[in-house]
Amino acid sequence: MEKSIVAMNLFEWVPGYAVQIAEIDEEHKLWLRTMNRFHDAMLNGTGKKFFRAEFAQAAQLLLTHFAHEEKLMTAAHYPHIGAQIKEHDGFRRTCRMFMERFERGENVLTVQLMLAVSVGTLRHGASVLRFAEYLRSTGHAAA
Ligand SMILES: [Fe+2]
Repeated sequence: MEKSIVAMNLFEWVPGYAVQIAEIDEEHKLWLRTMNRFHDAMLNGTGKKFFRAEFAQAAQLLLTHFAHEEKLMTAAHYPHIGAQIKEHDGFRRTCRMFMERFERGENVLTVQLMLAVSVGTLRHGASVLRFAEYLRSTGHAAA
């Protein structure tokens, strides 16, 4: 029997995510591409290999991105920055926990990691929409 696999990205970047700050938009796109590659690797049975080879770098990308975003939110006087930092902290803790488990030599279940980063990514997507709307409504978007 012939198997057919429909190529489909787990995450899609949509124009509504654009905060109109090129670096942030590029960081979001890169993160989604990375998560899609991770998802593809899992479907191909190479999720653990991807995790070992690339997750530390991906997590570093996320940490740099969050710091970047928090700096911009501070500069834009974003009123929800407290909630945003809390959300970032949760995502940072999740990544750190998986990295520490990996470094201790524990078996990291990539499906658990994928689920955790997917939840974090979806939450972040909702926050990004709110931040993008704030920037548009206050005129910070042109910055
Ligand atoms: Fe972000």
